[in-house]
Amino acid sequence: MTEKITIATATQALPGKLFQSVAEKRKVKELEAQLAEVEQGLLEQTRFASPVADAAARYLAEAGGKRIRPLLTLLTSQLGDGVNDRVRTVAQAIELTHLASLYHDDVMDEAGTRRGVPTAHVSWSNSVAILAGDLLFARASSLVAGMGEEAILLQAETFERLCLGQLHETVGPQPEDDEEAFYLQVLADKTGALISCAARMGVLVSGAPREYLDPVTEYGEAIGLAFQLVDDVIDLSPAKQDTGKRAGTDLRAGVVTLPLLLLKQRAATDAAAADLLRRIDEGVAAVAAGAAPEVMDAEVAELYQHEVTAATAERARQIATAATTALAPLPQGAVKTALVRLAETIVDRVG
Ligand code: IPE
Ligand code: IPE
Ligand code: MG
Ligand code: MG
Repeated sequence: MTEKITIATATQALPGKLFQSVAEKRKVKELEAQLAEVEQGLLEQTRFASPVADAAARYLAEAGGKRIRPLLTLLTSQLGDGVNDRVRTVAQAIELTHLASLYHDDVMDEAGTRRGVPTAHVSWSNSVAILAGDLLFARASSLVAGMGEEAILLQAETFERLCLGQLHETVGPQPEDDEEAFYLQVLADKTGALISCAARMGVLVSGAPREYLDPVTEYGEAIGLAFQLVDDVIDLSPAKQDTGKRAGTDLRAGVVTLPLLLLKQRAATDAAAADLLRRIDEGVAAVAAGAAPEVMDAEVAELYQHEVTAATAERARQIATAATTALAPLPQGAVKTALVRLAETIVDRVG
Protein backbone atom coordinates (compact mmCIF):
# COMPACT_ATOMS: atom_id res chain seq x y z
CA MET A 1 0.00 0.00 0.00
CA THR A 2 1.36 3.39 -0.91
CA GLU A 3 0.14 6.84 -0.10
CA LYS A 4 0.97 10.23 -1.47
CA ILE A 5 3.98 11.71 0.25
CA THR A 6 4.58 15.42 0.58
CA ILE A 7 8.24 16.29 1.00
CA ALA A 8 9.02 19.18 3.33
CA THR A 9 9.51 22.46 1.46
CA ALA A 10 13.07 22.71 2.77
CA THR A 11 13.91 19.38 1.15
CA GLN A 12 12.58 20.51 -2.20
CA ALA A 13 14.48 23.77 -2.02
CA LEU A 14 17.90 22.23 -1.42
CA PRO A 15 18.59 20.42 -4.73
CA GLY A 16 17.66 23.61 -6.59
CA LYS A 17 20.34 25.50 -4.66
CA LEU A 18 23.02 22.97 -5.46
CA PHE A 19 22.54 22.85 -9.23
CA GLN A 20 22.18 26.18 -10.97
CA SER A 21 23.18 26.09 -14.64
CA VAL A 22 20.68 25.13 -17.36
CA ALA A 23 22.61 21.91 -18.01
CA GLU A 24 22.31 21.04 -14.33
CA LYS A 25 18.55 21.57 -14.13
CA ARG A 26 17.87 18.02 -15.26
CA LYS A 27 19.98 16.85 -12.35
CA VAL A 28 17.77 18.81 -9.94
CA LYS A 29 14.63 17.05 -11.22
CA GLU A 30 16.38 13.68 -10.97
CA LEU A 31 17.56 14.35 -7.44
CA GLU A 32 14.13 15.54 -6.32
CA ALA A 33 12.54 12.38 -7.71
CA GLN A 34 15.13 10.23 -5.94
CA LEU A 35 14.62 12.08 -2.67
CA ALA A 36 10.87 11.54 -3.01
CA GLU A 37 11.49 7.79 -3.32
CA VAL A 38 13.73 7.83 -0.24
CA GLU A 39 10.99 9.73 1.56
CA GLN A 40 8.38 7.15 0.63
CA GLY A 41 10.62 4.36 1.92
CA LEU A 42 11.40 6.31 5.07
CA LEU A 43 7.76 6.58 6.01
CA GLU A 44 7.32 2.88 5.30
CA GLN A 45 10.32 2.08 7.51
CA THR A 46 8.79 4.01 10.40
CA ARG A 47 5.68 1.77 10.38
CA PHE A 48 5.24 -0.65 13.27
CA ALA A 49 2.54 -3.22 13.93
CA SER A 50 1.75 -1.88 17.39
CA PRO A 51 -0.37 1.29 17.09
CA VAL A 52 1.40 3.20 19.89
CA ALA A 53 4.84 2.31 18.52
CA ASP A 54 3.69 3.25 15.05
CA ALA A 55 2.35 6.68 15.98
CA ALA A 56 5.38 7.63 18.06
CA ALA A 57 7.97 6.32 15.61
CA ARG A 58 6.47 8.05 12.56
CA TYR A 59 5.86 11.31 14.36
CA LEU A 60 9.17 13.10 13.73
CA ALA A 61 9.67 11.73 10.22
CA GLU A 62 6.31 13.17 9.25
CA ALA A 63 7.07 16.51 10.91
CA GLY A 64 9.58 17.40 8.15
CA GLY A 65 13.30 18.12 8.29
CA LYS A 66 15.83 19.08 5.67
CA ARG A 67 16.98 15.52 4.79
CA ILE A 68 20.56 16.76 4.32
CA ARG A 69 22.04 13.35 5.15
CA PRO A 70 20.07 11.28 2.59
CA LEU A 71 20.68 14.00 0.02
CA LEU A 72 24.43 13.61 0.59
CA THR A 73 24.24 9.83 0.16
CA LEU A 74 22.34 10.23 -3.11
CA LEU A 75 24.86 12.78 -4.32
CA THR A 76 28.00 10.78 -3.55
CA SER A 77 26.46 7.60 -5.01
CA GLN A 78 26.67 9.35 -8.37
CA LEU A 79 30.44 8.93 -8.18
CA GLY A 80 29.63 5.26 -8.76
CA ASP A 81 26.64 3.52 -10.32
CA GLY A 82 24.20 6.19 -9.10
CA VAL A 83 21.03 5.72 -7.09
CA ASN A 84 19.75 2.16 -6.81
CA ASP A 85 17.98 0.10 -4.14
CA ARG A 86 21.11 -0.24 -2.01
CA VAL A 87 21.76 3.50 -2.07
CA ARG A 88 18.14 4.31 -1.19
CA THR A 89 18.25 1.79 1.65
CA VAL A 90 21.39 3.22 3.27
CA ALA A 91 20.07 6.76 2.79
CA GLN A 92 16.95 5.75 4.72
CA ALA A 93 19.01 4.01 7.42
CA ILE A 94 21.04 7.16 7.97
CA GLU A 95 18.00 9.43 8.24
CA LEU A 96 16.42 6.88 10.65
CA THR A 97 19.58 7.02 12.78
CA HIS A 98 19.40 10.82 12.75
CA LEU A 99 15.71 10.74 13.69
CA ALA A 100 16.37 8.31 16.52
CA SER A 101 19.13 10.55 17.88
CA LEU A 102 16.72 13.50 17.82
CA TYR A 103 14.11 11.66 19.94
CA HIS A 104 16.80 10.95 22.52
CA ASP A 105 18.39 14.39 22.28
CA ASP A 106 15.08 16.14 22.92
CA VAL A 107 14.55 14.10 26.08
CA MET A 108 18.06 14.94 27.30
CA ASP A 109 17.75 18.63 26.37
CA GLU A 110 14.16 18.81 27.68
CA ALA A 111 13.25 20.49 24.38
CA GLY A 112 9.66 21.58 23.92
CA THR A 113 9.52 21.63 20.11
CA ARG A 114 11.30 19.96 17.20
CA ARG A 115 10.64 20.51 13.50
CA GLY A 116 7.91 22.96 14.45
CA VAL A 117 5.83 20.48 16.48
CA PRO A 118 5.79 19.55 20.18
CA THR A 119 8.54 17.01 20.92
CA ALA A 120 7.65 13.32 21.28
CA HIS A 121 8.31 13.29 25.03
CA VAL A 122 5.92 16.20 25.44
CA SER A 123 3.28 14.50 23.27
CA TRP A 124 3.67 11.10 24.97
CA SER A 125 6.29 10.67 27.72
CA ASN A 126 10.06 10.34 28.15
CA SER A 127 9.81 6.55 28.09
CA VAL A 128 7.80 6.50 24.86
CA ALA A 129 10.20 8.97 23.20
CA ILE A 130 13.27 6.95 24.26
CA LEU A 131 11.73 3.70 23.05
CA ALA A 132 10.60 5.26 19.76
CA GLY A 133 14.24 6.29 19.22
CA ASP A 134 15.40 2.76 20.06
CA LEU A 135 12.90 1.28 17.58
CA LEU A 136 14.27 3.51 14.84
CA PHE A 137 17.87 2.59 15.70
CA ALA A 138 16.83 -1.06 15.40
CA ARG A 139 15.20 -0.45 12.01
CA ALA A 140 18.27 1.39 10.78
CA SER A 141 20.43 -1.60 11.76
CA SER A 142 18.08 -4.00 9.96
CA LEU A 143 18.35 -1.91 6.81
CA VAL A 144 22.15 -1.83 6.87
CA ALA A 145 22.35 -5.57 7.68
CA GLY A 146 22.21 -6.55 4.03
CA MET A 147 24.86 -4.09 2.90
CA GLY A 148 27.97 -6.06 3.82
CA GLU A 149 30.40 -6.03 6.70
CA GLU A 150 32.07 -2.71 5.89
CA ALA A 151 28.77 -0.82 5.82
CA ILE A 152 27.57 -2.52 9.02
CA LEU A 153 30.79 -1.60 10.80
CA LEU A 154 30.63 1.97 9.52
CA GLN A 155 27.08 2.35 10.81
CA ALA A 156 28.03 0.88 14.21
CA GLU A 157 31.15 3.03 14.61
CA THR A 158 29.22 6.13 13.58
CA PHE A 159 26.52 5.42 16.13
CA GLU A 160 29.19 4.92 18.78
CA ARG A 161 30.78 8.30 17.97
CA LEU A 162 27.39 10.01 18.03
CA CYS A 163 26.69 8.60 21.50
CA LEU A 164 30.18 9.54 22.72
CA GLY A 165 29.68 13.10 21.45
CA GLN A 166 26.39 13.36 23.33
CA LEU A 167 27.93 11.79 26.45
CA HIS A 168 30.97 14.08 26.46
CA GLU A 169 28.73 17.10 25.96
CA THR A 170 26.62 15.94 28.91
CA VAL A 171 29.50 15.41 31.34
CA GLY A 172 31.60 18.35 30.07
CA PRO A 173 35.39 18.75 29.94
CA GLN A 174 37.57 17.38 32.73
CA PRO A 175 40.23 19.60 34.40
CA GLU A 176 42.99 18.25 32.13
CA ASP A 177 40.99 18.95 28.93
CA ASP A 178 41.46 21.98 26.70
CA GLU A 179 37.91 23.38 26.61
CA GLU A 180 37.99 24.57 23.01
CA ALA A 181 39.46 21.32 21.64
CA PHE A 182 37.00 19.33 23.77
CA TYR A 183 34.07 21.32 22.41
CA LEU A 184 35.14 20.94 18.77
CA GLN A 185 35.54 17.19 19.31
CA VAL A 186 32.00 16.99 20.76
CA LEU A 187 30.63 18.72 17.65
CA ALA A 188 32.63 16.49 15.31
CA ASP A 189 31.37 13.38 17.12
CA LYS A 190 27.73 14.24 17.66
CA THR A 191 27.11 15.80 14.22
CA GLY A 192 30.16 15.37 11.96
CA ALA A 193 30.24 11.58 12.32
CA LEU A 194 26.75 10.92 10.91
CA ILE A 195 27.07 13.47 8.11
CA SER A 196 30.42 12.01 7.07
CA CYS A 197 28.90 8.52 7.26
CA ALA A 198 26.11 9.66 4.90
CA ALA A 199 28.68 10.82 2.35
CA ARG A 200 30.86 7.71 2.74
CA MET A 201 27.95 5.25 2.46
CA GLY A 202 27.00 6.72 -0.93
CA VAL A 203 30.46 5.90 -2.28
CA LEU A 204 30.66 2.55 -0.50
CA VAL A 205 27.42 0.97 -1.75
CA SER A 206 27.39 2.41 -5.27
CA GLY A 207 30.55 0.74 -6.52
CA ALA A 208 32.37 4.07 -6.80
CA PRO A 209 36.19 4.03 -6.81
CA ARG A 210 37.43 3.43 -3.28
CA GLU A 211 39.84 6.36 -3.54
CA TYR A 212 36.79 8.63 -3.12
CA LEU A 213 35.88 7.14 0.28
CA ASP A 214 38.22 9.23 2.43
CA PRO A 215 37.79 12.56 0.59
CA VAL A 216 33.99 12.51 0.95
CA THR A 217 34.30 11.34 4.58
CA GLU A 218 36.62 14.24 5.42
CA TYR A 219 34.28 16.60 3.55
CA GLY A 220 31.21 15.34 5.48
CA GLU A 221 32.89 15.62 8.85
CA ALA A 222 33.99 19.18 8.10
CA ILE A 223 30.61 20.40 6.87
CA GLY A 224 29.02 18.90 9.99
CA LEU A 225 31.41 20.88 12.16
CA ALA A 226 30.90 24.07 10.12
CA PHE A 227 27.13 23.58 10.39
CA GLN A 228 27.33 23.46 14.19
CA LEU A 229 29.59 26.54 14.43
CA VAL A 230 27.22 28.46 12.18
CA ASP A 231 24.44 27.44 14.60
CA ASP A 232 26.45 29.00 17.44
CA VAL A 233 26.49 32.31 15.56
CA ILE A 234 22.83 32.08 14.51
CA ASP A 235 21.82 31.53 18.14
CA LEU A 236 22.93 35.08 18.89
CA SER A 237 21.59 36.68 15.71
CA PRO A 238 18.53 38.96 15.84
CA ALA A 239 17.48 37.19 12.60
CA LYS A 240 16.80 34.12 14.74
CA GLN A 241 13.52 35.76 15.72
CA ASP A 242 12.31 35.10 12.14
CA THR A 243 12.28 31.39 12.98
CA GLY A 244 10.02 32.07 15.96
CA LYS A 245 12.86 31.63 18.45
CA ARG A 246 14.42 34.21 20.73
CA ALA A 247 18.01 35.26 19.97
CA GLY A 248 20.43 33.89 22.56
CA THR A 249 18.36 30.86 23.58
CA ASP A 250 21.55 28.81 24.12
CA LEU A 251 23.37 31.66 25.85
CA ARG A 252 20.49 32.30 28.26
CA ALA A 253 20.31 28.57 29.07
CA GLY A 254 24.04 28.40 29.86
CA VAL A 255 24.78 26.17 26.84
CA VAL A 256 28.45 26.17 25.76
CA THR A 257 29.15 27.69 22.33
CA LEU A 258 32.37 28.72 20.60
CA PRO A 259 31.73 32.50 21.00
CA LEU A 260 31.39 31.96 24.75
CA LEU A 261 34.54 29.81 24.95
CA LEU A 262 36.53 32.39 22.98
CA LEU A 263 35.19 35.13 25.26
CA LYS A 264 36.38 33.12 28.27
CA GLN A 265 39.87 32.86 26.75
CA ARG A 266 39.98 36.63 26.18
CA ALA A 267 38.70 37.41 29.65
CA ALA A 268 42.06 36.34 31.08
CA THR A 269 43.77 39.40 29.57
CA ASP A 270 40.95 41.73 28.47
CA ALA A 271 38.97 43.61 31.14
CA ALA A 272 35.99 44.40 28.85
CA ALA A 273 35.68 40.73 27.88
CA ALA A 274 35.90 39.76 31.57
CA ASP A 275 33.12 42.21 32.38
CA LEU A 276 30.84 40.86 29.64
CA LEU A 277 31.55 37.30 30.77
CA ARG A 278 30.69 38.21 34.37
CA ARG A 279 27.39 39.78 33.28
CA ILE A 280 26.57 36.71 31.15
CA ASP A 281 27.28 34.39 34.09
CA GLU A 282 25.07 36.53 36.36
CA GLY A 283 22.31 36.56 33.72
CA VAL A 284 22.42 32.78 33.31
CA ALA A 285 22.19 32.34 37.08
CA ALA A 286 19.28 34.81 37.26
CA VAL A 287 17.38 33.10 34.42
CA ALA A 288 17.99 29.68 36.03
CA ALA A 289 16.53 31.13 39.25
CA GLY A 290 13.36 32.18 37.42
CA ALA A 291 14.12 35.67 36.03
CA ALA A 292 12.57 36.63 32.66
CA PRO A 293 14.88 35.82 29.70
CA GLU A 294 14.81 39.54 28.76
CA VAL A 295 17.27 40.30 31.59
CA MET A 296 19.98 39.08 29.21
CA ASP A 297 18.93 41.00 26.07
CA ALA A 298 21.85 43.46 26.29
CA GLU A 299 24.45 40.71 26.79
CA VAL A 300 23.08 38.67 23.86
CA ALA A 301 23.33 41.74 21.59
CA GLU A 302 26.81 42.57 22.89
CA LEU A 303 28.16 39.07 22.37
CA TYR A 304 26.68 39.01 18.86
CA GLN A 305 28.60 42.20 18.00
CA HIS A 306 31.79 41.01 19.70
CA GLU A 307 34.90 39.94 17.77
CA VAL A 308 34.62 36.43 19.20
CA THR A 309 31.41 35.88 17.24
CA ALA A 310 33.02 37.15 14.02
CA ALA A 311 35.93 34.79 14.78
CA THR A 312 33.47 31.88 15.13
CA ALA A 313 31.89 32.70 11.76
CA GLU A 314 35.36 32.93 10.23
CA ARG A 315 36.28 29.54 11.71
CA ALA A 316 33.14 28.03 10.16
CA ARG A 317 34.12 29.49 6.76
CA GLN A 318 37.65 28.08 7.04
CA ILE A 319 36.33 24.63 7.92
CA ALA A 320 33.89 24.76 4.97
CA THR A 321 36.81 25.69 2.72
CA ALA A 322 38.79 22.75 4.10
CA ALA A 323 35.77 20.56 3.32
CA THR A 324 35.82 21.55 -0.35
CA THR A 325 39.63 21.24 -0.50
CA ALA A 326 39.27 17.63 0.67
CA LEU A 327 37.26 16.96 -2.51
CA ALA A 328 40.30 17.59 -4.76
CA PRO A 329 40.64 13.90 -5.79
CA LEU A 330 37.03 13.84 -7.09
CA PRO A 331 36.46 14.32 -10.81
CA GLN A 332 35.23 17.72 -11.98
CA GLY A 333 31.51 17.62 -12.66
CA ALA A 334 28.02 17.99 -11.28
CA VAL A 335 28.59 15.98 -8.09
CA LYS A 336 31.62 17.97 -7.01
CA THR A 337 29.92 21.25 -7.91
CA ALA A 338 26.89 20.31 -5.83
CA LEU A 339 29.01 19.28 -2.82
CA VAL A 340 30.93 22.56 -2.97
CA ARG A 341 27.65 24.50 -3.13
CA LEU A 342 26.28 22.53 -0.19
CA ALA A 343 29.29 23.60 1.90
CA GLU A 344 28.77 27.21 0.78
CA THR A 345 25.04 27.05 1.55
CA ILE A 346 25.84 25.98 5.12
CA VAL A 347 28.16 28.90 5.85
CA ASP A 348 26.05 31.41 3.89
CA ARG A 349 23.52 31.15 6.71
CA VAL A 350 25.72 33.48 8.77
CA GLY A 351 25.68 36.10 5.99
C1 IPE B 1 19.74 19.04 13.69
O1 IPE B 1 20.08 18.51 12.45
C2 IPE B 1 20.41 18.34 14.80
C3 IPE B 1 21.86 18.29 14.68
C4 IPE B 1 22.50 17.18 14.48
C5 IPE B 1 22.61 19.54 14.79
P1 IPE B 1 19.40 19.04 11.15
O2 IPE B 1 19.53 20.53 11.08
O3 IPE B 1 19.92 18.27 9.96
O4 IPE B 1 17.89 18.71 11.41
P2 IPE B 1 16.68 18.37 10.46
O5 IPE B 1 16.88 16.94 10.04
O6 IPE B 1 16.67 19.30 9.29
O7 IPE B 1 15.46 18.53 11.32
C1 IPE C 1 21.25 17.51 18.21
O1 IPE C 1 22.15 18.23 18.95
C2 IPE C 1 21.39 16.01 18.34
C3 IPE C 1 22.60 15.39 17.85
C4 IPE C 1 23.57 16.01 17.29
C5 IPE C 1 22.72 13.96 18.01
P1 IPE C 1 21.76 19.62 19.65
O2 IPE C 1 21.04 19.35 20.92
O3 IPE C 1 22.99 20.41 19.73
O4 IPE C 1 20.85 20.31 18.55
P2 IPE C 1 19.33 20.77 18.55
O5 IPE C 1 19.37 22.23 18.83
O6 IPE C 1 18.60 20.00 19.58
O7 IPE C 1 18.85 20.46 17.14
MG1 MG D 1 19.04 19.41 21.40
MG1 MG E 1 21.69 18.17 22.55
